[in-house]
Amino acid sequence: MATSMVCLVALCLVSPLLLAGAVVGNPGYGGLFPQFYDHSCPKAKEIVHSMVAQAVARETRMAASLVRLHFHDCFVKGCDASVLLDNSTNIVSEKGSNPNRNSIRGFEVVDEIKVALETACPGTVSCADILALAARDSTILVGGPYWEVPLGRRDSLGASIQGSNNDIPAPNNTLPTIITKFKRLGLADSTLDVSFAAQLRQGCPRSGGDNNLFPLDAVSSTKFDNFYFKNILAGRGLLSSDEVLLTKSAETAALVKAYANDVHLFFQHFAQSMVNMGNISPLTGSKGEIRKNCRRLNNFH
Ligand SMILES: *[C@@H]1O[C@H](CO)[C@@H](O)[C@H](O)[C@H]1NC(C)=O
Ligand SMILES: *[C@@H]1O[C@H](CO)[C@@H](O)[C@H](O)[C@H]1NC(C)=O
Repeated sequence: MATSMVCLVALCLVSPLLLAGAVVGNPGYGGLFPQFYDHSCPKAKEIVHSMVAQAVARETRMAASLVRLHFHDCFVKGCDASVLLDNSTNIVSEKGSNPNRNSIRGFEVVDEIKVALETACPGTVSCADILALAARDSTILVGGPYWEVPLGRRDSLGASIQGSNNDIPAPNNTLPTIITKFKRLGLADSTLDVSFAAQLRQGCPRSGGDNNLFPLDAVSSTKFDNFYFKNILAGRGLLSSDEVLLTKSAETAALVKAYANDVHLFFQHFAQSMVNMGNISPLTGSKGEIRKNCRRLNNFH
């Protein structure tokens, strides 16, 4: 797993334990389903995949950035594309929050995808679903697992800079704080969540060092794999939160070992956790809207 200290990294794929956390917490699909656009926009998935593939071909690191964008969206008010809104009269953009400032990226790729989708099927595919599909496609493109993406999310009518500052796990949060943050999202009912959080934090420090590119996995920094766990076992974890996974909890230590020894187990858990994370408080039915431009509300000022 190639993660980086700051998500600027080559592949700060939020990974491994990511899944673990969600695995336990959130089994339902939240009213979403993979066939949502099959009639209204049959080419939607193909369009997203092809544009993500072009972006990742231009720059491998974009794969990690797009996974992180979905994560930072879902942890703030649910998976509703609130993270994509720019500042405007009534919006204080989440892009300026501590976890996001000078580090979150990939907005231009989302814009390109949105333009292509609006051409193919105007007003149909939400920005929140673009983020969910782009995270999955990015993962596959760098060697990670496939999963079916439940769809049908709608886009928010607002953003929350406070939520962005407070709800995303920070690199210096204590374990109890992290567990609390997961519980609030319905993703916590086991210590698995702790390891999930540690992994997320890792790719996404709250601030500082944002110009440093630091592969957390120096062995395979452009591929989605389980080297992150192998490195921890070998005493080559980069951050203190790596070490903590092995030393502070028997359950997370068992996961580190299991994932280091079995890449398929890791992939399976990761995929399930991404589905679970993607189910956090989606807007469905007539809630929210389908934005025409992901950066602003349809009725913007
Ligand atoms: C949005 O505007 C606020 C001031 O209202 C500013 O502090 C912040 O940096 C801006 N955010 C972005 C992403 O430009
Ligand atoms: C964690 O980091 C943030 C941002 O750098 C800082 O404001 C905060 O005081 C730190 N908290 C602790 C407990 O160190």
